[in-house]
Amino acid sequence: MDENIRKLKELVSQSDNIVFFGGAGVSTESGIPDFRSVDGLYNQKWSYPPETILSHSFFERCPEEYYRFHREKLVIDGVKPNRAHLRLAELEKEGKLRAVVTQNIDGLHQAAGSENVLELHGSILRAYCSKCRKPYSADVMNHGEGVPRCSCGGVIRPDIVLYEEPLDEDIMTRAIRCIRKADMLIVGGTSLNVYPAAGLINYYTGNKLVLINLSRTEYDRYADLVIHEKIGEVFSQI
Ligand code: OAD
Repeated sequence: MDENIRKLKELVSQSDNIVFFGGAGVSTESGIPDFRSVDGLYNQKWSYPPETILSHSFFERCPEEYYRFHREKLVIDGVKPNRAHLRLAELEKEGKLRAVVTQNIDGLHQAAGSENVLELHGSILRAYCSKCRKPYSADVMNHGEGVPRCSCGGVIRPDIVLYEEPLDEDIMTRAIRCIRKADMLIVGGTSLNVYPAAGLINYYTGNKLVLINLSRTEYDRYADLVIHEKIGEVFSQI
């Protein structure tokens, strides 16, 4: 067995308060592209940069264009949890993992069976009216045509955090609390480029910080174990 995998298994076996903190790279093996890899969303041609389309002001100004992008790029039908999502859900059931903190909006951790999932950037599986806040089925938003509207006339929007919008304070506080108390923090599939989410790693003070990411990150030098491999493959071996 690979030395890194052996070490990871050993660290997991010594821990019973593990927190996993992940990003888009956790779902690429399910067929959802990430943002910053060469074939990621931010390197595809689009009439505006995706960071612009995914911003609050753009959504307000050009909801039609936003929804074209949303339905073509964010909504991917038929995706299933991969081995990373599934193993994380098992670790929770085994009483070893306390929380999954994710930047992803795809709902795949819950689909895999994870219960304590803190969605820092919300979910495209929830929608609400931007004017009266009435909740709506995500189907209207994800599979309808044009700009979905509420009976009050407001635009229905995804329950995701767009650029220029603050993160949900309660979720952030819970994520910080979990990470502070964790005896092991596994960070995976995230470039750790987007703040404030990336800064969460600084709340971990233990000595079992594991980074699993295909490419290097700014935080590699602080980790007790760094694995540059596909996260689904790694989790299928532990
Ligand atoms: P990024 O696209 O920035 O980073 C994904 C990371 O995952 C990259 O460093 C890849 O090398 C790595 N990766 C890809 N596939 C992998 C695999 N199978 N196994 C291991 N690593 C893999 O995505 P995030 O860090 O999640 O925010 O980006 C953070 C935020 O930026 C997103 O939540 C989104 C985006 O703008 C909002 O929309 C608010």
